Amino acid sequence: MNIKKRVFSLLSSCYVVGCLFAQNILISTPTTSLVLSAPEKGELKYIYYGAKLSDRDFQTIGSLNKGKYAAYPVYGLNCPSEVALAVKHNDGNMTLQLEVVKVESSHQDEANLTIISLKDKVYPFYVKMYYKAYQDTDIIEIWSEISHQEKKTVVLNQFASAYLPIRKGDVWLSHLYGAWANEGRLEEVPLEAGMKVIKNKDGVRNSHTAHAEVMFSLDGKPRENEGRVIGAALCYSGNYKLRIDTDESDYHHFFAGINEDNSTYNLKNGEIFRTPELALTYSDEGLSGSSRNFHRWARLHKLANGTKLRKILLNSWEGVYFKVNQKGMDEMMEAFSAMGGELFVMDDGWFGNKYPRNGGNSSLGDWEVCKEKLPEGIEGLLASARKHHIKFGIWIEPEMSNTKSELFEKHPDWILKIDNRPLSTGRGKTQVVLDLTNPKVQDFVFGVVDNLMANYPEISYMKWDDNCSLLDYGSSYLPKNKQSHLYIEYNRGLQKVLQRIRAKYPELVMQLCAGGGARVNYGLLPYFDEFWTSDDTDALQRIYMQWGVSGFFPAIAMASHVSADKNHQTGRRIPLKFRFDVAMSGRLGMEIQPKDMNDVDKAFAKRAIAAYKDIRPVVQFGDLYRLVSPYDNKGVSSLMYVTSEKNKAVFYAYKISHFINMVIPKVCMNGLDPSKNYRLVDLTPVDSSKPCDLNGKIISGKILMEEGIALKSLLKSEYSSLALQLQAVD
Ligand code: DGJ
Repeated sequence: MNIKKRVFSLLSSCYVVGCLFAQNILISTPTTSLVLSAPEKGELKYIYYGAKLSDRDFQTIGSLNKGKYAAYPVYGLNCPSEVALAVKHNDGNMTLQLEVVKVESSHQDEANLTIISLKDKVYPFYVKMYYKAYQDTDIIEIWSEISHQEKKTVVLNQFASAYLPIRKGDVWLSHLYGAWANEGRLEEVPLEAGMKVIKNKDGVRNSHTAHAEVMFSLDGKPRENEGRVIGAALCYSGNYKLRIDTDESDYHHFFAGINEDNSTYNLKNGEIFRTPELALTYSDEGLSGSSRNFHRWARLHKLANGTKLRKILLNSWEGVYFKVNQKGMDEMMEAFSAMGGELFVMDDGWFGNKYPRNGGNSSLGDWEVCKEKLPEGIEGLLASARKHHIKFGIWIEPEMSNTKSELFEKHPDWILKIDNRPLSTGRGKTQVVLDLTNPKVQDFVFGVVDNLMANYPEISYMKWDDNCSLLDYGSSYLPKNKQSHLYIEYNRGLQKVLQRIRAKYPELVMQLCAGGGARVNYGLLPYFDEFWTSDDTDALQRIYMQWGVSGFFPAIAMASHVSADKNHQTGRRIPLKFRFDVAMSGRLGMEIQPKDMNDVDKAFAKRAIAAYKDIRPVVQFGDLYRLVSPYDNKGVSSLMYVTSEKNKAVFYAYKISHFINMVIPKVCMNGLDPSKNYRLVDLTPVDSSKPCDLNGKIISGKILMEEGIALKSLLKSEYSSLALQLQAVD
């Protein structure tokens, strides 16, 4: 084997830890490859990203494509182009020219790590590019570390995590947008000349509106189960900016990273600035294929306890709002336990004594149980939970305070504010944000969880909320020359707190909530077991939102609750079966006052909960195949989950519009084994003695996928739905 070939195979298999030098570098996952050119003292260039290359293909591609674009473009010598990194050196010079000085590889955490060290040709300024290629899932994470040894501070004006050129053709972008109670809406647009920017400037909640995850369909209009798709997710919890520049060249230029607006960073000599990871995936099985890659990676690597089944819970919020009391909580637990529920979560309204929390305008920070409402304290609630054989969880919003709170009275300097300007406030006209750049505040926020857990170790779940943007741009902790670091330092402070919590309480189930789905991102999910998808629990609107969010995030993490009829957000009336069938496609829960349910509804809920327990491993660990998009306006929406062994599956179909004699498409299933026969079971018949016509039928995977299911006679009325279990039989 010649030396060049040996280097290639070492790099592609990466069994060694060491320093290697190679002209071209092959970075591979089970079915994808990234190729870079890294000549010693030359520029690091991008060559290829897509389907996995063999060693031979790798050599051929290198001879065809010498690399036109830098893998991490920098500013100064090619000024008209967009760049990833732009700085001002301490002598005022604005230019960079990076050359490759070292290539290293090692194996860690089920992944091969390639580190390419770059240095400026003139200044002692360094960039290390990291490429982490997972070997159990098709994701490559890319990030950079920026440092220097110049005498004084170097100003970082732009500092993206990564850049990817995408060859032009008929490339479409799929991305999420939305608003409070309408998160995760899917938008699909062709990439056209000019710049498409997807960004967030909230400071702390970055997915109420746009999302930091996108997909590029390379073969025309996005399709769910065919076509080549590149997916990208920026793993960051703060302000981000994704740019796609479609210029006169043959490529679209994609950049992703922290949003540098109002975040100019003054980098000290010796300090290392690490950018957040950009996770890339590629699939030739359409959008759903890329989603499955993200889901698998999330469960295995990017979600707390991603391989443990989630419990079925009842959250008190829509049932009682702030009207929490011992008797009411006890009754909810008893009723939910009788329906088969496993966990009860007491939401907002349980704390504050000087200022009892009766609305959104007081008490955040005063994390003492309200004696007036709960005279028996948390102990009383835990005793109820024990009595009803159910686990207990609690709501907190620990990064926040209200001007009407004991915490604010005691520590007015712990709040983000500008000394010489009036204080801006959020929810309830009193909500303010704690200054998490301050280590004392970090200790306090850690203490909110730590004290609760130390005093009540039986608490098994916490819902961590955040109902306020980072309003005022000022920290009394950060020095003057670091005020522009506020957004970045806040998020670093938050990460530090969460790392401490996870180190001490790895088993505690934690939900990531931010006024609904404002923090659904892979920057924070490694610390959380799940996220609250939206404050909107309307089952029809959820179909659209959950469809969007499922593009990037797995069902195991997507909290999906059955709520009241009529729905509190939209006022819509939807049958209980439909509400359950929608919620059962994610992590099932309820958000309802059981007292308001009649006996028939309770009996149905009990059967549906039992059915969900049966299919839970398929939904929570299975592969998602989205079949008919609600965004295609075909009157129905449909999706399914299949186990990796293809022996079990769950199929859902929802009628989302209703007209007389409307044409309803038949739905072809996907992901099954064509040679297997599957027995179909109606999971949620309204009357258990009258399941749907498909119940009990045994049909081959081939027919289910080729001929499909005619839904017209199954989904007759408005808001009719179907949840079918498929079980392979011999
Ligand atoms: C916003 C959350 O999204 C809701 O579920 C609820 O927890 C409220 N905050 C409580 O104030």
